[in-house]
Amino acid sequence: MTTSDAKQSATFSIGGALKVNRLGFGAMRITGRGIWGEPADRAEALRVLKRLPELGVDFVDTADSYGPDVSELLIREALHPYRGIVIATKGGLTRTGPNLWTPVGRPEYLIQQAMKSRRNLGVETIDLWQLHRIDSKVPRKEQFDAIRSLLDDKVIRFAGLSEVSVEEIEAAAKVFPVATVQNRYNLAERESEGVLDYCEKKGIGFIPWFPLAAGQLAGPDSALAAAARAHKATPGQIALAWLLQRSPVVLPIPGTSKVAHLEENVAAAGVKLSVGEFAAIDKAARAA
Ligand SMILES: NC(=O)c1ccc[n+]([C@@H]2O[C@H](COP(=O)([O-])OP(=O)(O)OC[C@H]3O[C@@H](n4cnc5c(N)ncnc54)[C@H](OP(=O)(O)O)[C@@H]3O)[C@@H](O)[C@H]2O)c1
Repeated sequence: MTTSDAKQSATFSIGGALKVNRLGFGAMRITGRGIWGEPADRAEALRVLKRLPELGVDFVDTADSYGPDVSELLIREALHPYRGIVIATKGGLTRTGPNLWTPVGRPEYLIQQAMKSRRNLGVETIDLWQLHRIDSKVPRKEQFDAIRSLLDDKVIRFAGLSEVSVEEIEAAAKVFPVATVQNRYNLAERESEGVLDYCEKKGIGFIPWFPLAAGQLAGPDSALAAAARAHKATPGQIALAWLLQRSPVVLPIPGTSKVAHLEENVAAAGVKLSVGEFAAIDKAARAA
């Protein structure tokens, strides 16, 4: 496998209106260690971002808390005025140091952060803003009402949730249309299977984070390794190809700080698993 184009991953329309190629990019890894401060190689981080449109990647996921601010500002530096690239950001997690993430869901904080992201990204309206976590210390209705007001005031165009259950999606959907859900999901971690099925039924975009964790499934005798050999691909590419074939609402956002890794990940859009390969990998993953 060499470089191919994210267009081969087919498209999904976020909120029924914002069409993106399904294989996107996660911009968490273009920050410092512990997702804190500037990246070790800032020039390479900018090269990664600038390479995205050349590879057909037009969906970028970030958050105010990545750095904090560092990821959003690098995205702006490399890609503004975006020209058809959809930038999705998130708010609702505070940072008090490397690897520390504390939810704060007070409405005035969520609104402040969305406005700050808008300024960081240099846009009038954020394409997609996601509540990074529902804060258990704040009534969830208050958090959903804040999102409703961000939509009404056109600070954001579409809204999504992260790390939620079906029950939470349904509660939020009473207050605003839920365009996307971002939960941890990969071949090896399938706890959100029911949420994904629900999203597919409702036409909600499902953004699986940590998509590359193939872990123990990538051993030399595994179904994953066999498919990788057959496609002259890496296990990571097979893991991404599997996600893309799992459901038409899946939007994987593999993240990297290196151009070579980006090119390898995007090439997964060109890997098409046979029905038998898909089933064998699925079975092995469920058994594990
Ligand atoms: N909603 C949430 O709560 C949440 C939480 C975490 C992440 N996210 C989002 O999800 C995105 C992806 O999650 P993630 O970054 O945790 O997981 P990931 O994309 O599965 O993995 C990223 C890691 O894999 C490495 N990597 C990437 N491509 C590689 C390749 N081709 N070969 C070898 N190593 C490779 C990266 O290091 P290198 O930089 O060295 O390539 C990085 O350490 C994030 O960027 C972020 O946007 C959301």
